[in-house]
Amino acid sequence: MNTDIKRILVTRDFPDKGIERLKERAGFKVTLWDLERPMAPEELVEGAKSHDALLCTLSDRIDKAFLDACAHLEIISQYAVGYDNIDVAYADSLGIPVGYTPDAMTEATADISFGLMIATARQMFFMHKIIIDGQWGHFRPKGNMGVLGQALKGRTLGIYGMGRIGLCMAQRCHGAYGMSVLYWSRSSNAEAEKTLGAVRVEFDELLAQSDVVSAHCALTPDTRHVFNRAAFKRMKPTGIFINTARGPIHDEAALLEALETGEIWGAGLDVTDPEPMAKDHPLLSMPNVCVLPHIGSATKEARELMSVMAAENIIQFYDTGEIPHQVSV
Ligand code: GLV
Ligand code: GLV
Repeated sequence: MNTDIKRILVTRDFPDKGIERLKERAGFKVTLWDLERPMAPEELVEGAKSHDALLCTLSDRIDKAFLDACAHLEIISQYAVGYDNIDVAYADSLGIPVGYTPDAMTEATADISFGLMIATARQMFFMHKIIIDGQWGHFRPKGNMGVLGQALKGRTLGIYGMGRIGLCMAQRCHGAYGMSVLYWSRSSNAEAEKTLGAVRVEFDELLAQSDVVSAHCALTPDTRHVFNRAAFKRMKPTGIFINTARGPIHDEAALLEALETGEIWGAGLDVTDPEPMAKDHPLLSMPNVCVLPHIGSATKEARELMSVMAAENIIQFYDTGEIPHQVSV
């Protein structure tokens, strides 16, 4: 084995821009997993054993068992802003730093949150199904299939997790509809307060006062199922819940129940638990529910930037010992 060569395992077929940078770099040997599906846990361990660095993403489970088997890894570079698939504290205890790609997909993800809010308020996905099912019929004064949507102008938005993406969603809602902004976050966000008049409130107040509640936090033990039965009960019966962060932030059975019993009015999800959602899941046939297959960051611009950032985290690490975007432990 030539120890001067750094062997990089790339676990998915990521956009070329970043991967080309790795391939062009003298002294790197890049192995690509280019099948459509993610590597199975055994394949990941087997592959990583003969590599020095890993470029991975949210479908790769980098847990204690993986890390124990691959403690020789020098760096893990995650292609995503979220890294709940990685046991970062354990990696740190083994001396393996973790890079990620924050802010590359902020605008793209906020667009999906904003789009889902409008699509849900106007039952767009359900209406699309009506056409496909041959039920368009006549113009219906009281709504197709007896359903009418909701106006968003002047409503109150509740942001759960006022980070970059939360702020970007709040800006869209404030700008487009003059929505008032409430937020719950671990720390206060001076920019949101100053530029949008956002008010930081307790979680219960966020739920009770908001017309639209939108989740933008990381998935951690503290945020897992934070949107549970009790939380949905506190929301307005006209309330809309949006989640573009991670599926397990909401309890999906509780969400379904809240929608069925009318405790809340609608939901727009770009993330589900599990993913993929079963194609006959009852949420998919509800008029006031819009579901997308985790496409928050899926613009050409965002995905290319993510691939470059993930590659640069590895390149800079070997050049300078520093990772430009390192997850802090
Ligand atoms: C996507 O879900 C991401 O975390 O970047
Ligand atoms: C957090 O993931 C953020 O970018 O807001």
